[in-house]
Amino acid sequence: MALKFSMPVQNSRILSVGAYRPARVVPNSEIVDKIDSTDEWIRQRTGIETRHIADADESLIDMAQAAATIALRRSGIGMDQIGAVIFATISYPYQAPSAATELIVRLGNPKAAAFDISAACAGFSYGIALANDLVRNRTVDYVLVIGGEKLSDFTNPTDRATAFIFADGAGAVVVGPSEDPGIGPTIWGAAADSRDAITLMPSYLDYKNPETRGAASWPDIAQQGQVVFRWAVYEMAPVGLKAIAAAGLTPEELSAFIPHQANERIIDSLVRTMKLPESVIVARDIRTTGNTSAASIPLAMDALLASNPELHGKPALLIGFGAGLVYAAQVVELPPLPHE
Ligand code: UT7
Repeated sequence: MALKFSMPVQNSRILSVGAYRPARVVPNSEIVDKIDSTDEWIRQRTGIETRHIADADESLIDMAQAAATIALRRSGIGMDQIGAVIFATISYPYQAPSAATELIVRLGNPKAAAFDISAACAGFSYGIALANDLVRNRTVDYVLVIGGEKLSDFTNPTDRATAFIFADGAGAVVVGPSEDPGIGPTIWGAAADSRDAITLMPSYLDYKNPETRGAASWPDIAQQGQVVFRWAVYEMAPVGLKAIAAAGLTPEELSAFIPHQANERIIDSLVRTMKLPESVIVARDIRTTGNTSAASIPLAMDALLASNPELHGKPALLIGFGAGLVYAAQVVELPPLPHE
């Protein structure tokens, strides 16, 4: 027998964004000696000039709390109205309980539904997909989505393949009901046959062997940069175009493009391949923020709105891609001017 209830769907949108960047700015010159590199190489190959790195005693949750507090204030929604908290991260140092539950205690609503998602650099776009469905289906009215990383805890400063890329920060958005559709359908998926291309794990053998388990090595990110680069450049442009079409728009109708900030050459290539017109403003936050994985899209969104306030309420293509390999893209209406 069918269940006896009816729940008409409602539209949803991003109501606000908040960001937190650690105070310490680290230029390439502070990194190059340990990896036999140069400021020029890092700028040319990635676009990165500086990045923010958290202090040793500044935790992932400290950063997430700061970003979430700003997003809540700008939305005009109280933490007591938030029905679910989705925390996208790969750098919370505990398997359980989750980062999201630590955060809701700090934010003063320990009763909200709360969970983490592990989708690396696609985590924020995965979180938006879930938040959209939760609001659309009236499971909850308001969702707080966090993308936060303290990647400096998991990056080996002597690893030439990763030390210059990864950085720290947190971004947050409040998603809630809306008169018109403000979050387009998500195009997502994986290329999991390449799941070894980026990893963050302790030595498997050390961990499995009872004799060496206690001495298992500290986990650091390892990356086959070229594998990820090629995949992103060749496979993500069609995904972005599908997300634009799924939202019922053409590239000409987009106002902004906010891709995961992995490498400025990947961003340039996607703009070229998707043939985005010059009128589309492209986020290039990577130059001063580096690659902050799940935090990179909300951080870039916040920076873009600060420098281009006319983009409030305009459609932007988001696309996240990374370890898994996993990806997700959707067009969103950027949040309206802050409610403060
Ligand atoms: O956010 C998650 C997803 N991650 C990504 O999307 C990252 C995607 N990958 C990348 O962004 C790029 O692959 C990197 C920036 C990581 C590396 O750039 P690349 O252009 O792919 O470098 P490569 O590994 O092909 O190396 C090119 C050259 C080599 O020298 P030769 O053989 O051409 O003489 C390397 O030895 O650059 C050299 N090299 C370096 N030189 C200075 C490699 N790493 C460095 C370095 N400093 N750190």
